[in-house]
Amino acid sequence: MAYSSFHPPVRTLMGPGPSDINPRVLAAMSRPIIGHLDPAFVGMMEEMKKLLQYAFQTRNALTLPVSAPGSAGMETCFANLVEPGDKVVVCINGVFGGRMKENVERFGGIPVVVEDAWGQPVSTDKVEAALQANPDASLLAFVHAETSTGACSDVQALCELARRHDCVSIVDAVTSLGGIPLYVDEWGVDAIYSGSQKCLSCTPGLAPISVGERAIERIRRRRTQVPSWFLDLNLVMGYWMESEGRRAYHHTAPINALYALHEALVILHEEGLEASWARHRRHHEALRAGIEAMGLRFLVDAAHRLPQLNAVLVPEGVDEAAVRAALLQRYSLEIGAGLGPYAGRIWRIGLMGHAANEQNVLLCLGALEAVLAEMDAVTPGLALPAARAEYAGRVRSQAA
Ligand SMILES: Cc1ncc(COP(=O)(O)O)c(C=O)c1O
Repeated sequence: MAYSSFHPPVRTLMGPGPSDINPRVLAAMSRPIIGHLDPAFVGMMEEMKKLLQYAFQTRNALTLPVSAPGSAGMETCFANLVEPGDKVVVCINGVFGGRMKENVERFGGIPVVVEDAWGQPVSTDKVEAALQANPDASLLAFVHAETSTGACSDVQALCELARRHDCVSIVDAVTSLGGIPLYVDEWGVDAIYSGSQKCLSCTPGLAPISVGERAIERIRRRRTQVPSWFLDLNLVMGYWMESEGRRAYHHTAPINALYALHEALVILHEEGLEASWARHRRHHEALRAGIEAMGLRFLVDAAHRLPQLNAVLVPEGVDEAAVRAALLQRYSLEIGAGLGPYAGRIWRIGLMGHAANEQNVLLCLGALEAVLAEMDAVTPGLALPAARAEYAGRVRSQAA
C-alpha cells in the first residue's frame, strides 16, 4: 500500500465552526519553528497576551491561550474553580450548557440547573430565582453564544447577578469572541474561555482564556489540589507569566499554531473589534433578508439572534441532510446540521470571522435556493435580490 500526501478539497466553511481562514493565518503557520523558550518566541507570547486582552476587552494579566481546543478552555475554568461539594448554578439552553453541567459533576461540584428552551436566551429571572433559592452557591456558569441554537444571552446582566449574590462567573465565549460585543472588564466577567476556530478565524486547537482577580482569589483559597495537572493554572502560569525573570517548562507549546493565533489576532486588531462586530451584523442582515425572502424562518427571535450563527428551520417535508450533501458536492459549501432536539429540524449557517463576507452570503443563498427550488420547496429568484437590496440599503445609509 502506497500512501501519498493529503490534499483536502477547497471548501467554503459556513457551518458552526471551524470557519474560513485568512490566508495570512495559514502562511504564518508555515514559518520556521523555533524553541518554545526562545527569546523571540517569548516576545511573541507577550504580544499575544496583549492582543487577547484587546479581544476580550480586559486588563486581566491572566489572559492566555490554553494549548487545546475550546473544550479545554471550558475544562480549565471548571477544574480550577470547582472543588468537591461546591454548588454551581449552571444554565442550560443548548448543548454547551449541558457540557458545563457535566464538567461541574466531574469535578465533584453540585449543579443547580437553570433550564431554558433551546433557541431561547438564558432567563435572568430564573437565574436570579435560583441564586436566591441557593444562597450557598458560589459559581454561576453560562454560555454567551449558544452554538447549537444561535441564541445570545445577556452576559452583563448575568454577571451582575453573580456579583450581587457573591458568586464567581464562568462564561463560555467560544462562538462570541470577535463576532459580537463582549466587554470582560466592564461587564464584570470573572472567568471566560473561547476557541480559536470560530470568529477569530484561526485553526482549531487553541482556547484563549481570561481570569480576573475574584476568580484567582478563589483558586488561591482552594482546599484541594486542582485535579488536572495539564490544566492547573498555577502551573500553566509558570510558563506564560515570567516570575523573577524565569519561565518554567510546563508542556511543549504548539508553536506554529500559536503563530497562527497571533496572526489572527493581529488581523482582528487591524480591523478593530467594533468594525468586526459591525461586519458580522451587516452580513447577517443580508443573509436574513435572503432567507426570509425564500419564506424560511429562524429558530431564534430577532432580539436574541446571533449574527454569526444562523439557525434556520428546515421547511416541512425537506430532507435536510440531502440539502447539506448537495451543497457540499455541488458548491463545495459546508453548512451545519441541527443537534439534539433540533437534529433534522434546522440548518446552522455560520458567518464567522473571515467567512462573514458578501461573497459567502450570496453563494450560500444562491446555492440553498437552487437546491430547495429543485425540491419544489421554495420559489426561485427571490433570495439574491433581497440580500442585494439589503446590502444596497446599508451602503446608502452609510453614505447618507
Ligand atoms: C459554545 C461552545 N462551547 C464549547 C465548544 C467546544 O469547543 P471545541 O470544539 O473547540 O473543543 C464549542 C464548539 O463548538 C462551542 O460552540
